[in-house]
This record gives sequence, structure tokens and C-alpha cells, in this order.
Amino acid sequence: MLRLQRPLPAAYLDASPDELADRIAAAKATLGERVFILGHHYQRDEVMRWADARGDSFRLSVLAKERPQADYIVFCGVHFMAESADILTGDHQQVVLPDLNAGCSMADMADIDSVEEAWESLAEVTDIDGVLPITYMNSAANLKAFVGRHGGAVCTSTNARAVLEWALNDPDGPRARQVLFFPDQHLGRNTGHQMGFTEDDMAVWDPRRDLGGLSEARVKEATFLLWRGHCSVHQRFRPDHVADFRERHPDGVVIVHPECAHEVCEVADQVGSTDFIIRAIDELPAGTHVGVGTEIHLVQRLDAETDKHVESLDPLVCPCSTMFRIDAPHLCWTLERLVEGDVVNRITVDPDTAHWARVALERMLAIT
Ligand code: 13P
Ligand code: SF4
Repeated sequence: MLRLQRPLPAAYLDASPDELADRIAAAKATLGERVFILGHHYQRDEVMRWADARGDSFRLSVLAKERPQADYIVFCGVHFMAESADILTGDHQQVVLPDLNAGCSMADMADIDSVEEAWESLAEVTDIDGVLPITYMNSAANLKAFVGRHGGAVCTSTNARAVLEWALNDPDGPRARQVLFFPDQHLGRNTGHQMGFTEDDMAVWDPRRDLGGLSEARVKEATFLLWRGHCSVHQRFRPDHVADFRERHPDGVVIVHPECAHEVCEVADQVGSTDFIIRAIDELPAGTHVGVGTEIHLVQRLDAETDKHVESLDPLVCPCSTMFRIDAPHLCWTLERLVEGDVVNRITVDPDTAHWARVALERMLAIT
């Protein structure tokens, strides 16, 4: 998706880190309670130090909703998170993303046209009333709305299992025989395995190929139709990284995010969302060596801020390049424009999309 961020004025690009820090502090103080700055766990330290709240994507949106006195929510994260915050907050609140090019490459792997096409193709070969669409939080608002309109729900990496159990295994009778899960095939596959399903129950839907690249028989029989999407950061982790860590630290603990490939999750000690990883590390004895499979800024912060030795499983892992776009110059520019009454980079979701996306989000909340 093309979102164009205009270049910042030289006054921001050329400013020293100390000058930017002074200016951010001054603008934040002037705005007071009217501004609420949210920082996702993957943000860099020069941004995170200004966050009024840190959290995972879902928690931050809920926190914004619980702050009605804040007219401006400055979301230091990526585009789909700012959209979710706009959907969940009041009409008087304006959500701002400091750099419009901070998208999520995984979220962009599913767009509304290809999902609607997939749905139509599915309807030609299988009983579509027996299929529920489930979308990961990491998706555009119009995909959440699609799911809301078709009786499905959103899920996060924390509650994916509960949402999929609701769809497929409800004690009062399953709501669906099949799920179309997008955009992250890995979260879908890992959760399916946790629920006791096997590879035979899962088929990968490739949106670039006719009928997802599957035979009619496969489409009909697979319980999980997993969209061919992935996170380029988490997909880098390999079982060899885990083996190498265990050789260096036989008593160490391996914790990975469920966006990692299934063969990595299988050999990890614990698997969970960013919030889960933080809590799990907190509960380990001081001095434990922990190998983590998630974005590097969170790993480095956990090493610096806890009494454990926390390292990335992949020594060459790159940061999430889109999260990385949010930096001190963009934050400073955003806040100083707000002081002038100029709301730059506002993220809005149109009322109909917001309504149906909220339906899908509220279904998730009711389930979990
Ligand atoms: P969380 O939902 O745990 O914040 O994860 C979001 C994300 O983008 C992980 O890559
Ligand atoms: Fe998207 Fe992956 Fe970055 Fe998370 S880490 S925001 S899933 S690209």
C-alpha cells in the first residue's frame, strides 16, 4: 500500500539528539493531558522514552480508548495499529502516526481485493456458509470489516487459540467447518498445531494463484486455509539458531513469538506474544540466559531492563524496518505541529468500515 510521507523540514533532520529531546519535552509539556503518546514494544529507545504507555498492538488501542481526555493519540507503532486505535476511540479523539510510511509488510500481504476474490473462489467449490474468516490484528481496517460482515472475528497472537476454538470447537456446536485465516500463515499453523490439528488439516492459500494454488478436493477438506503471508522479521529465525543457543547455554530458556515458523516454535520452550515474552522473562530467576525470537529492539530492552541475560536467537536479525521509521525527528515534528493546532498524519477509518471492524473486534473481546 502506498502511503506517502512528505520529507521533514531540515530543522528536524539536522537537529542534534539533545536538541530534539529538549523540543519534544517542551511540546509534550505544552500539550499536557491533551496528548497521549503510545509506544509499541518494537520502537527504538529514542522514541520509547517519551511514551506515556508501552504495550502490544491491542493493549495500546484499549489504553487509548480509556483516555478520553486525550484529544490526540500519537501512535508510535505501525499503520494498522493506528487504525485500530481510531476505531476504538471516541469521535473527539484524533489518532496520529508520526511517519505515514510506517506500515507492516505482513499486513500488506493481504488486501481487500484479494480476500474478496479468494472468498468468491471458495464459494464456487465449498459450502461457504461453513467457512469463517478470521483475521490477525495485523491487518488493514477494511479486512477487519470484511471479517465482521461475514460473522468472523479478529485475533491477536495472545488469543488466537481462543478465537479459533470459538470458530471450530465451540461446546455448543462448531460455528464453522473451515476457517480462512489471514494474513499470517505461521500464527494460524502454530495455533492449529496447539489445538491438536496436523499438517493434513491445513492448506496454504496462495492469493496469486487460481484457487489459491490448491485442488478442489484440498480446498474442501482442509480445516485451516492459511493465507500465504508472513512476517519477514520473525520468519528469519531457524531451528539452527535454537540449537546454537542451547549449545552455548544448556540451562538457558528459549522463547519465541508465534509469527516464527512452526519448526522453530516446536523446539522453543515457550511461545507467545510480545506481552507474553515480557511476562515470561520477568518470572525467570535472575541471571537466566534467555534466547528470544522476536524483534531486536524489544530483545535489547529486555536485556537492559531486567536481571536476565537476554539475547536474540539470530545474531544478524534486523529491526522491523517499518517500526524503525518512527524516530525522534518525526515525533518532534508531529508534536510541534500539534502545539500549533495542525494535526498532521491523522489516521481515520470511514464510519461503515469502522462499524464492521468494531463488530469483529468486539466479537474477539467477547470470546476472550
Ligand atoms: P503484538 O500484537 O504482540 O504487539 O505483535 C505485533 C507485531 O507486529 C508482531 O510482529
Ligand atoms: Fe509487521 Fe513483522 Fe514489523 Fe510486526 S515485526 S509490524 S508483523 S513487519
